Amino acid sequence: MSSTRKGIILAGGSGTRLYPLTMGVSKQLLPLYDKPMIYYPLTVLMLAGIREIAVITTPHDQEQFKRVLGDGSQWGISLTFIVQPSPDGLAQAYLLAEDFLAGAPSAMVLGDNVFFGHGLPEMMKAAPEQGGTVFGYHVSDPERYGVVDFDKDGTVKAIIEKPPVAPSNYAVTGLYFLDGTAPERARAVQPSPRGELEIVTLLESYLHEGSLRVETMGRGYAWLDTGTHASLLDAGNFVRTLQERQGLQVGSPDEIAWGQGWISDEDLSERASLFGKTGYGAYLKGLLRSDKH
Ligand code: G1P
Repeated sequence: MSSTRKGIILAGGSGTRLYPLTMGVSKQLLPLYDKPMIYYPLTVLMLAGIREIAVITTPHDQEQFKRVLGDGSQWGISLTFIVQPSPDGLAQAYLLAEDFLAGAPSAMVLGDNVFFGHGLPEMMKAAPEQGGTVFGYHVSDPERYGVVDFDKDGTVKAIIEKPPVAPSNYAVTGLYFLDGTAPERARAVQPSPRGELEIVTLLESYLHEGSLRVETMGRGYAWLDTGTHASLLDAGNFVRTLQERQGLQVGSPDEIAWGQGWISDEDLSERASLFGKTGYGAYLKGLLRSDKH
């Protein structure tokens, strides 16, 4: 089933925390085991049924993203590439994507966020088209993220960006479902002391109106970090462990497009040939022989 929602993948940023790895290549194109990192957030949007997606990158990385992703037609989706001239904050994505969105509700995912868990498509599809929906996830180091501040009865009081002392262990993940008013609201966001248009300020505008849902993403989900060299390797190992144990791919746009009925058996077979003798190519060929339709 396709959604009227449009998707945004924010893949800008200079990735300095991963230097020297990211001196020559964008962070979101680095390998996460056997695939470019951006495949994982891309497939999250595809699992939400979204087929029109804008990919926001730095000006100089755009060519590489185009080479890796093409126009999306190989997956039955449409990709639009938008440049972010300088990394001025997550909320800026809604200004840059305003024409692309043309009033539609959207799901934005950060290009370095990796999600895995049973029921993820249903959880995303349950997000209403009006207002906003974000996901809170229990982490050991909430100070590194936007953090949910709950009052005694569990109502969300505030979302605070990188607080020195975290009011809870619930970080807001980099997956935001916002209605068609997001660009208009983003225009009212003032830069924070660190000079960025903060996503939490945009979320606050929904929160103050009582139109922000904060859903808990339970412990059965993995929301993985790729922000340090160690966590990047851990995330890659997580994917490898699952794939080898199950014999099933994590984050394959080819499999998901085919599973959604967006590409035909012939299309998938063509893609499989492109990957030749790799395990990935063999896996895609195997899908056509199986009854996993
Ligand atoms: C950003 C957001 C933060 C969110 C995080 C999720 O942080 O500002 O609210 O929790 O993404 O990955 P950044 O990655 O820019 O430090």
